[in-house]
Amino acid sequence: MSNPNRRPSDRRGSSFSRRDSIDPRKLVPMDKMTHISGTDDFNVVFVGAGNIMFGSDEGPWNHSFRFEHKLGRRLKVIALIDPATERAKEVLRKKCDSFVISAYENTRVYKNFDEFHKNLPKSLRPRAFVVGSPPMFRGTLQSGRDIETLILKHYPGVALFIEKPIATGPVEEIEEGFKIAKQIEDTKTICSIGYMLRYLKAVQMMKHIIEENNLTVMTTIARYACAYEAIAKPDWWDKSKSAGPVIEQGTHFCDLSRYFGGEVDIDTVMAHSLEWNENAGQLSAMKVDESKIPPENRIPRVTSATWKYDSGAVGTFTHVVALQGTNYSCELEVYADGYCLRLVDPYVQPVLYVRKPGDDHEQTYRFNNDDPFFSEVSNLIDVIEDIEEDPEAACILSTYEDAVKTYQLTWAIRQASERSRAAKLKKAAV
Ligand SMILES: NC(=O)c1ccc[n+]([C@@H]2O[C@H](COP(=O)([O-])OP(=O)(O)OC[C@H]3O[C@@H](n4cnc5c(N)ncnc54)[C@H](O)[C@@H]3O)[C@@H](O)[C@H]2O)c1
Repeated sequence: MSNPNRRPSDRRGSSFSRRDSIDPRKLVPMDKMTHISGTDDFNVVFVGAGNIMFGSDEGPWNHSFRFEHKLGRRLKVIALIDPATERAKEVLRKKCDSFVISAYENTRVYKNFDEFHKNLPKSLRPRAFVVGSPPMFRGTLQSGRDIETLILKHYPGVALFIEKPIATGPVEEIEEGFKIAKQIEDTKTICSIGYMLRYLKAVQMMKHIIEENNLTVMTTIARYACAYEAIAKPDWWDKSKSAGPVIEQGTHFCDLSRYFGGEVDIDTVMAHSLEWNENAGQLSAMKVDESKIPPENRIPRVTSATWKYDSGAVGTFTHVVALQGTNYSCELEVYADGYCLRLVDPYVQPVLYVRKPGDDHEQTYRFNNDDPFFSEVSNLIDVIEDIEEDPEAACILSTYEDAVKTYQLTWAIRQASERSRAAKLKKAAV
């Protein structure tokens, strides 16, 4: 039943949404969920046939798998757009060899959006575009990197899911991201961005504690240490391709910091880095031949930043490229008067430690079988389907505009660290 008091935009991922949290009890694991009702086809277009869409050894992501579980036999992937058409055909072959064949047996492969738009039979209307192409090919208004605008123009009213970060182009292009956000807002298009950590039960519990106790966040302290040995993509190590590890990867924790701390005063961002050519920055287990990357494009090993939020609170974030093996070591602490909420290991086995007034000891909460990738997809589809059994129903936690602000913060951190480095080198030269 629809709630007559709710504005249509409340859950849709537009920036004037009033709700920005979900009751953690409503985040149902994939194996406890029954397929949503209905028999009609749910047509989806996948943009990108890579790891995020079809999975890889690098992590638990795999959007196609979550769409299959959420929609069951209703899922019809009507098109897969990827310039690497052989890769696209190969993933489809695998799907068609499995029990999910009904979703993929009629999938058409197109090498770009133009070809897709010209050739898609008019009888097939998508309900959603899932965009998992590399960010260097999107997030702008420029031809060839403007898929968001093309979708909004040719498929008005069709929902969007877009992977993080929203772009990785030059810093001057951030304004184009805000223009895209405005188009999405003005057309009231349902749009969700892939900051899936927001959908963790642990994160929602943190929100719940803050809201329930009417707390004001004083500081967010985030640390993201990746396991670099497992990162074998040469582009990731090249700032001219990935924009660097803070923008490409640390973005998840900058986003979570903003989720708790609010708007950042971008002018206050300060940062330092440990660079690849400094003594302390030598790595012994890199799988990539860094000598093939021009020196000026090689990534820092450590980036550490602080900033002020508009609320007055202070944010700090450190990204570290130091661990070997495969597991990352990531933690976020959020402090408020009397409280410390400490989120540990959100990628693998999230644990939340809570210290409250009246007790010097932390309480520990574990969240087994939590799948934020599924919750992200599940909430998006419920919003598209307008399933609204109660006011606590599904909602989108990351809007396009909000994601542009996270992108802006990560760029500000990179630029601040480069400024500090340049100043140090200048001082050393005199
Ligand atoms: N949320 C997460 O935890 C998470 C995890 C992995 C990847 N990602 C994000 O997903 C995105 C894709 O990453 P990936 O690991 O799948 O990369 P990938 O390199 O494995 O796959 C990207 C695919 O996109 C294709 N492609 C290139 N240009 C294209 C274009 N213009 N249109 C359509 N397809 C195009 C490539 O041919 C390739 O098949 C990135 O933004 C990445 O940050 C997010």
